[in-house]
Amino acid sequence: MTSYALVTGASSGIGRELARLLAKDGNNVVLVARRKAELEVLARELESTYRVIARVVPCDLGDAAARDALLAAVADVDVDILVNNAGFGSNGKFWENDAVREVGMVELNVTALTDLTRRLLPAMVLRGRGRVLNIGSTAGFQPGPWMTTYYATKAFVNSFTQALAYELRGTGVTATVSCPGPVATEFSSIAGNDKSALFKKSGGVAEPAAIAHEAYQAMLQGKPMIVHGARNKLAASASKVSPVALTTAIAASLNRRIS
Ligand SMILES: NC(=O)c1ccc[n+]([C@@H]2O[C@H](COP(=O)([O-])OP(=O)(O)OC[C@H]3O[C@@H](n4cnc5c(N)ncnc54)[C@H](OP(=O)(O)O)[C@@H]3O)[C@@H](O)[C@H]2O)c1
Repeated sequence: MTSYALVTGASSGIGRELARLLAKDGNNVVLVARRKAELEVLARELESTYRVIARVVPCDLGDAAARDALLAAVADVDVDILVNNAGFGSNGKFWENDAVREVGMVELNVTALTDLTRRLLPAMVLRGRGRVLNIGSTAGFQPGPWMTTYYATKAFVNSFTQALAYELRGTGVTATVSCPGPVATEFSSIAGNDKSALFKKSGGVAEPAAIAHEAYQAMLQGKPMIVHGARNKLAASASKVSPVALTTAIAASLNRRIS
């Protein structure tokens, strides 16, 4: 069967850049997100620029039945690379945030990622080749008040992927988690934290193409984890040896809206 890379959240930001890198290296791609028009534009770009096949599968990954339909739509190909990138956040007091949205965040950031990985991984292991790239976050290294659910979902992604990478040793399949800090995408306005100190003051907002490039290289090298940028690496190391009360307070001050 023909080999493909499946990218979730390919309609914007980091996922779109990852799809470009995969296609540039000659990989056929399955582009997944809710916005069909954006996916179609990207598919035409990739097909004409890199001469690969780009399939568009519009899908609300937060919906279990829609995930079934997605997997049925790719049952005729070998998905040798799975990029679980789709995700979103929210900002505010947890108990005041929209309840459906908070649960939907867990369904997308955690459940969909687990579901797609669990259902696509056995065939990769059987073939003795494959890559899983999950987009976690530096948010996963400590609790994050005002973005409580989001930080917790990313703690799951970071932990899940590193443990999976260990289990996969010797199978020919690798798992990598990419942990960016703030990135200039639609994420911050959708999460409502574009007015937080993290995005307005940190001075360390990265470009999605740079993050995608580093994540992609780490995936090719089979690294279990990549933390992007010197400042984030330092913060990640510090969080391992600092009292959780301190790292929680720092995250709270970064997430609080300042205008
Ligand atoms: N930007 C940052 O500061 C930052 C930092 C660390 C980690 N991350 C992580 O990076 C990943 C990519 O985010 P980004 O920064 O590139 O943000 P983005 O530009 O908002 O992209 C998010 C992508 O997820 C898709 N998506 C959202 N809900 C979906 C759903 N229910 N079903 C299917 N697709 C869905 C969106 O497409 P549709 O709207 O078309 O569905 C979009 O393609 C996320 O996991 C995010 O948590 C971001």
